[in-house]
Amino acid sequence: MKTILITGGAGFIGSHVIRRMITNSPDTRILNLDQLTYAGNLENLKDIEASPNYHFIRENILNAAFLEKLFNDYEIDGVIHLAAESHVDRSIADPMAFINTNIVGTVNLLNTCRGAWKDKNDKLFYHISTDEVYGSLGSEGLFTEETAYDPRSPYSASKASSDHLVRAYHHTYGLPVVLSNCSNNYGPNQFPEKLIPLAINNIIHMKPIPVYGKGDNIRDWLYVEDHAAAIELIFREGAEGRTYNIGGLNEWKNIDLIRLLCRIMDEKLERVPGTSEKLITFVKDRAGHDLRYAIDSTRIEAELNWKPSVTFEQGLAHTVEWYLHNREWMEHVTSGAYQSYYTTQYGER
Ligand code: NAD
Ligand code: DAU
Repeated sequence: MKTILITGGAGFIGSHVIRRMITNSPDTRILNLDQLTYAGNLENLKDIEASPNYHFIRENILNAAFLEKLFNDYEIDGVIHLAAESHVDRSIADPMAFINTNIVGTVNLLNTCRGAWKDKNDKLFYHISTDEVYGSLGSEGLFTEETAYDPRSPYSASKASSDHLVRAYHHTYGLPVVLSNCSNNYGPNQFPEKLIPLAINNIIHMKPIPVYGKGDNIRDWLYVEDHAAAIELIFREGAEGRTYNIGGLNEWKNIDLIRLLCRIMDEKLERVPGTSEKLITFVKDRAGHDLRYAIDSTRIEAELNWKPSVTFEQGLAHTVEWYLHNREWMEHVTSGAYQSYYTTQYGER
């Protein structure tokens, strides 16, 4: 039986990747290693947690000794590394957590793989990264895999560092690696600190929707299931040492996106049209706020035959429905209720 280690599997994107892999590969053992920070929660995986090929491990990727033991206990064939601190605003407030998890944690995993996989060449370390490493675009152009790195926030700088280290371990030590850099994801299970779930939550509770600056910043939105499908495909068919950009060809100015969301929410909540828009509140801009991200996905489309499967209208409608039907999830994650539950079940970290 093959064994795949997925880090950060209790988080937003990781939970969708785990569900796909468990369902599509019943003969593969999936180890989900996650520290369960504020962003990770096992409720995201309730429907598959009893699967015989699924095994959860609560651990920190900063614990190098544990990683070494894990690789001794299991013959691990591949790693899909998603565990990270992922929120730009938190990186501005507290960069060290990002340096530790995103850089040192990634190096711990690379060292462990290097040590365990010495003479074996049928292994793969897959690093999940972000388009933010490329910096900010003006009104024209798209990020390609050749775009020079120009990270501008502590988060993107930490992800750029980890990308460089992954490539360095490939070139220096011959570690088999693959990487992908993806645009903004949205969908079920995203922690409500990120723009879309935060806005949905605030609209439900008739609270102000904070829009940074003038709302002119542009992001390229991709439905999380389409990212998870790309990850599974790259893990199976991506060329060793190669990088793939993943995006939605779906650029939205923040303010236009929020106005669209307000209209959808008024309809779903049967509120008078225009009710939610009144909640829009322009607030102080994010420090160093990147103006525009947009991805050229030509390589993954041409080489691996991937493309997004849902339109933004479909994805957003499904996302809104999910949050409306999972208000308890939203209440739990925002109240920290899961954290005390995990502490009781798995001990203090
Ligand atoms: P998330 O914050 O929802 O989840 C991160 C997960 O990692 C959580 O389950 C958390 O508990 C776990 N984790 C954090 N620190 C850990 C540590 N030290 N040890 C073990 N586990 C730890 O993040 P996400 O949005 O699902 O992003 C996943 C990955 O995808 C990240 O690497 C991120 O940089 C990348 N990415 C995200 C997006 C996006 O739009 N969300 C886009 C492109 C790339
Ligand atoms: O591009 C990929 C990246 O997308 C991922 O690597 C990150 O992990 C992910 O968090 C996301 O980063 P962003 O900073 O783009 O996402 P966020 O949802 O925080 O913000 C989206 C845009 O909305 C951005 O221009 C800032 C703005 N914003 C955000 C929040 C939380 C607001 O105007 N108001 C808000 O309250």
